[in-house]
Amino acid sequence: MYLMMPRAALSVLLLLASMVLPIVTAAAPEAIHLPCSRTCGTGMPAKQNLTYPFGFSPGCPIQLNCTEDGDALIGDFLVQSTSPDTVAIAIEAKCDRPFGSIDHLYGRNYAPTAKNCVLLNNCAQTSPCDLPNTQVIQAQFQSLCEPSNKTHTNTSMSCYAEQANSYSTMFLNHTRLFALDCKHFLSSISLVEQNNVSASLGVQLLRLEWWVNGNECECSQDADCVQLSGLPNGGGNGFRCKCRDGFLGDGFSAGTGCRTASCRCRRWLAIGWARLGELTGALPG
Ligand SMILES: *[C@@H]1O[C@H](CO)[C@@H](O)[C@H](O)[C@H]1NC(C)=O
Ligand SMILES: *[C@@H]1O[C@H](CO)[C@@H](O)[C@H](O)[C@H]1NC(C)=O
Ligand SMILES: *[C@@H]1O[C@H](CO)[C@@H](O)[C@H](O)[C@H]1NC(C)=O
Ligand SMILES: *[C@@H]1O[C@H](CO)[C@@H](O)[C@H](O)[C@H]1NC(C)=O
Ligand SMILES: *[C@@H]1O[C@H](CO)[C@@H](O)[C@H](O)[C@H]1NC(C)=O
Ligand SMILES: *[C@@H]1O[C@H](CO)[C@@H](O)[C@H](O)[C@H]1NC(C)=O
Repeated sequence: MYLMMPRAALSVLLLLASMVLPIVTAAAPEAIHLPCSRTCGTGMPAKQNLTYPFGFSPGCPIQLNCTEDGDALIGDFLVQSTSPDTVAIAIEAKCDRPFGSIDHLYGRNYAPTAKNCVLLNNCAQTSPCDLPNTQVIQAQFQSLCEPSNKTHTNTSMSCYAEQANSYSTMFLNHTRLFALDCKHFLSSISLVEQNNVSASLGVQLLRLEWWVNGNECECSQDADCVQLSGLPNGGGNGFRCKCRDGFLGDGFSAGTGCRTASCRCRRWLAIGWARLGELTGALPG
């Protein structure tokens, strides 16, 4: 479910990822890597079309779990998709999900970005998280958690988001989130800026930013490297690779690297010429 909303109203959630250092390029150093498998227990590849560094074997820098059906999981949460810098996680609205389960989303190689608003239930502390545009959404969640049968449950919904003035914040602050001392992790709303004027809200969605640990870029020569520092959870320094325009691939030297985007066209052309040859050869002479 996506909702459009005016960008001006989103100041609470608008934060800059100022910790991203300038883009640098690095040649791929030789290294020995265990294979990174993207097939699940059943032998099927994950439904999410994962690419390196994601996978299911210990050789994958970002190792995920999977269901029997071949869905990638982080904790008990379903991975919806991955991008060159984020992982979208489906957070189905659930009134009695233990609050502690959110801890699984803070890993060695990923953490929730500051552009999420986490919806919580039954917190000891409240946080100043008044998001006027999300009131409608909040009201829906609230009614979901109001028991028709009020005999034993008490619901008080609250939420956590980073403050608009904390421009250096890249991730949801784990310390402050856990200081709220909540009982339940209800769901999440994730913001994506489309352009200056609008942004979309991913409801029941939480985005993580991911990285590969290391001080050195291990990228393909046709990729740019984004280096990161001060990563949460003892992550230290990390990097991500991204193929330059005109190239396709995961960009990592230990992955598939980058290949020219036009090579597929050339292959089709080659097949086309071969076919033409066959046809001409088959013509009665
Ligand atoms: C995965 O790739 C297949 C084949 O290219 C495509 O049909 C499918 O929609 C993709 N799934 C996702 C989640 O991107
Ligand atoms: C995968 O499952 C193992 C065993 O339950 C657990 O220790 C690990 O944290 C899980 N990894 C992820 C990414 O959820
Ligand atoms: C209310 O909840 C109690 C305890 O769970 C249950 O025994 C009772 O049948 C419920 N009443 C209704 C009207 O659902
Ligand atoms: C519900 O909350 C109110 C006010 O916080 C409290 O007084 C009451 O004891 C709670 N009831 C239950 C069943 O927890
Ligand atoms: C998280 O919040 C705590 C408590 O307010 C603060 O001390 C800490 O510096 C914050 N961490 C980051 C990475 O902003
Ligand atoms: C975005 O903002 C810049 C500077 O404020 C402006 O030049 C540009 O036209 C805007 N783009 C859109 C799509 O509004």
